[in-house]
This record gives sequence, structure tokens and C-alpha cells, in this order.
Amino acid sequence: MNTPERHPFLQGLSRHRGAPPTVLVIFGASGDLTARKLLPALYNLAADNLLPADFHLIGFGRSPLPDDEFRRSAAASIREFSRRAPEDGIWNPIAAHTRYLAGGYDEAAAFTRLRELIDELERVAGRELQTLCYISTPPTVFRPILENLGTCGLAARRRGTALATKVVIEKPFGRDLASARELNRAIAGVLEERQVFRIDHYLGKETVQDLLVQRFANAIFEPLWNRNYVDCVQLTVAEEVGVGTRGGYYEQSGCLRDMLQNHTMQLLALTAMEPPVSLDAEAVRDEKVKVLQAIRPLRLGPGGDAVRAQYTEGLSGGKRVPGYLAENGIRPGSATETYAAVRLFVDNWRWAGVPFYLRSGKRLARRVTEIAIRFKRPPGALFAGSDQYDLAPNTLAFQIQPDEGMTVLLNGKIPGLETRIQPVKMRYGYHTTFGSNTPEAYERLVLDAIVGDGTLFIRGDEAETSWRLYTPVLEAWAAAGREGIDAYPAGSWGPACADALLAAHGHEWRKP
Ligand SMILES: NC(=O)c1ccc[n+]([C@@H]2O[C@H](COP(=O)([O-])OP(=O)(O)OC[C@H]3O[C@@H](n4cnc5c(N)ncnc54)[C@H](OP(=O)(O)O)[C@@H]3O)[C@@H](O)[C@H]2O)c1
Repeated sequence: MNTPERHPFLQGLSRHRGAPPTVLVIFGASGDLTARKLLPALYNLAADNLLPADFHLIGFGRSPLPDDEFRRSAAASIREFSRRAPEDGIWNPIAAHTRYLAGGYDEAAAFTRLRELIDELERVAGRELQTLCYISTPPTVFRPILENLGTCGLAARRRGTALATKVVIEKPFGRDLASARELNRAIAGVLEERQVFRIDHYLGKETVQDLLVQRFANAIFEPLWNRNYVDCVQLTVAEEVGVGTRGGYYEQSGCLRDMLQNHTMQLLALTAMEPPVSLDAEAVRDEKVKVLQAIRPLRLGPGGDAVRAQYTEGLSGGKRVPGYLAENGIRPGSATETYAAVRLFVDNWRWAGVPFYLRSGKRLARRVTEIAIRFKRPPGALFAGSDQYDLAPNTLAFQIQPDEGMTVLLNGKIPGLETRIQPVKMRYGYHTTFGSNTPEAYERLVLDAIVGDGTLFIRGDEAETSWRLYTPVLEAWAAAGREGIDAYPAGSWGPACADALLAAHGHEWRKP
């Protein structure tokens, strides 16, 4: 019999990975993402003893800043944003190996200074270090940074060895197919694909990874996971907030670029892909790309597969809030969509004929990210004649955030002398099962980049395949201006045009 310590439910299975000695360079070190996510992620990795013993941090930015000042502001960010209260015993060793370097992202000499600083760190450490560059700047400077990494020799450093330089690139990865291709070309000019880690932080979420475990570590789902049993799949990435202070940014982006094209498509790929031959990065990403390639081009125009809308004034969280056009930083008569929904068909053997509905929006009724697999209705013949309505379809829903977990909707008998049936919910709550202090997405992603595991990052062809699907939609919407934009009141579940997308197939959206 298993002792409690050895019981596999408590112990878990794990794949052990060694982190090589590393110098992490953050470009955009004075930025919001560095403060809120990257530095707290490093701190928590250190607290979990997951950083390499020889770890060095270099903050890179345009304004001159003494090392001590950068260390102080880093410590303040960790105090404010870390999931664990910071302890000196954990932070001080990192701080002792933290430096700051000022320079322009397009200034070749600054990158030479960076390389010299890394050479010096290696000399002092007495060993070779891997260079991991995290590009956490606005996308306008992704390209000059990449080019300068090439010119100064850092991109090719130790290539072909386990200590080859690696580069993490933040989102957004392009704003259409042409710009994504251009960025991929700039990357390919200086780096090999295995050196590149394109971020979609959704892939770092515990519950997204749990989806893969649920699918492939359980025997009961796979036989049902296909067109014979699945009626439709619904993917929802809903935000309760409006654009807030980020109106200027959002005007350049819109919902399709900001959410649907990347995060929601990643959820679709993980839901629909075939079992990979292994959990290696290439095997998993090959399967994801195959799914994206099998998606039928969207039909455009009225009655087509893509709809968009903007929120109008309404009640959100019990407060009256303005419509999108009245928010700060929004152009008068803006045609930027705050809601987008699409109906996709994955034309392969497993999924032929099963609609995948994707929706995302701001100022919706609730913040929720969910993947719902709706199964075909069971035949009701056995229960016909009773005062039953139609049997509810079984639904398996993965709640990615918040209330992380999984729900199965079943039909159950209401106690009593008659056979009366009611849908009942079975729930596996992630936090009630495992506790709530789970690692943040960026902890996992930063660690994976340090150990060189690209499984949870986007490959170049994956990014282009998704943009290829959506660029015609973006072009058609840009050409149409405000024509065809629907409206929905803030605090609602979205516009009528999105309901019509499903009604055409006899479906309706879940209200998560
Ligand atoms: N913040 C988030 O929660 C979040 C979430 C997901 C993805 N991202 C992505 O992560 C990246 C960084 O985001 P962020 O919010 O940290 O950005 P940010 O605060 O606007 O910028 C990061 C740093 O980049 C430098 N910078 C800003 N504007 C620049 C410009 N026009 N030209 C050159 N350098 C400029 C600044 O550093 P110096 O002045 O010191 O050089 C700034 O501190 C972006 O690509 C963003 O899309 C952010």
C-alpha cells in the first residue's frame, strides 16, 4: 500500500529540468510589465529554488540609472506585486547580481557595452553563462533590438550549445500577416527558431496546462472528443473592465487583435489538436499548427463568420459606465471593435462539421475565460411521455480564470416518486483541490525560457497561420469603417449579431 508521502495523488509526476547558469537581460526594464510581472516572477522562482545557482540580472533602458537605484525600484516592485511577501534572504542574493545598463534600443554602441558587461560577468563567475534576452518594450523597438543583438554578436553567442543565447519576445507579435512576416524575417536574420520564445501569457496559466493534462492523462475524454459526439465548442475570453486609461493603445488594436487572434486561438489549438507524439516543444507545436492550418477561411460580409461590436453606456459592477466612444483617448466616430466573435470550422477528420465559436469583449457581464465542449443531445425517447422538456446536452467546461476548474453538466433524477430530470453540475475546483498559491503564468514562462523549453511559446509559423486567417477580416472591417458595427450595453453578454452567429446552427451562447 502507498504511504501518504508516496501516494501519487499527493506526490505528483514531474519532469525534472536543470536551469543553466544564466544572465537575464530585460529590455524595457523601467516598464510596467517588468515591475508587475517579470521581477515578481524572478523573485518567486528564487523562493522556489528554481533559479540557477549562477544567476545574473541586467536591466536595460534608455534613462541613465545607477545600479543601486534599479535594485531599489526592483525591490519595491516585488514588494508591491509578488504573490509572496518578499524576504531579504531570497532577494539579497539576486540584488547582489543585479546591474543596470543605459542605452538606446537602436544604439549599436550600447549593445557592445552590453556584450562587454556579460563578458565581465562571465570572467568574474569563472564560467560560461547563457544569455537570455527578454524584450519587454513596445513593439516599435522589437526590430532594432533584434538587429543590434545580431550586430554585437550576442545573438550568435554559444550557438549550437546548451548555452546558446535565447530571446523572449512580448506580444503583440505583429498587427497583421504582413507585419508578423516582417518580424519573423527580422528574427530569422539573427536567430535560429529554437532560440526564440514568443510569449502568449495564456499558455503559462496553470489551467491552460491542466487542459492538456485532462485531455491526455485521462482515458474518458478522448473517445468522445470528436465530431461524432461534440455538437459545438465555445471559447469565451470576457473582460468586465472597459478600456480605462488605455484608450490610446486600444484604438490601435481592437478586440480581434488584442484577444481573439492570439489568446483565444491558442485555447482553440490546445482544445482541438491531436495528441502529440511527445511533450517536446516541436511535437506539441506541430500539432497546434496543423489545427490552425485546417481552419476554413472565414466568410466575410453580412451573414458571414465574423461579427464585431462596441459597448455603449450601461451598468457594470452596479455602476453606470460610459460607452466606448465617450471613453478617454477614443477618436470621435471610432470604428475600433470592443467585441468580436467568429464561427470557425476545423476541416479535418476529427472535427469536420463541428462549429467552434470564439468570442471576446470588454465591458461584458463578467470576467471569465472558459472553454466549453457541448455534446450532442442524448435521445429523449426513453423519457418521452413524462412532462420533460428536452434533455439538456452534456457540457464539459474548463474555467481558465477566475474560479479555475472544470465543470461537467449532467442530467440527474430529481428525488421523488416520479422520474423528473434536471441538469446537475459536477465541479473540480482547482484552488479547492490544490490551494490558491499557484505560480503565476510568467513564473512558468520565464523558467521555461531559462531552461530552453519552447512548448508554451508560439512558433513563427503558428503566429503567421493565425494572422493569415484573420487579416482578411481586419481588412474588410477597416474598409467598411463603422458600417456593420453592432452595439451592446456595458454589463451585458454582448451584441445580438453574436447570438445570430450561433442561432444559424441552432445553438446559443452559454452564460458562464
Ligand atoms: N503591461 C502588461 O501587463 C503587459 C501584458 C502583456 C503584454 N505586454 C507587452 O509587454 C511589452 C512591455 O509592456 P509594458 O506595459 O511594460 O510597456 P511600457 O511600460 O509602455 O514600456 C516598457 C519600457 O519600454 C521603453 N519604452 C516605452 N516606450 C518606448 C518607445 N516609444 N520607444 C522606445 N522605448 C520605449 C521604456 O523603457 P525606457 O524608457 O527605460 O527605455 C518603458 O519603460 C509590450 O510589448 C506589451 O504589449 C504588457
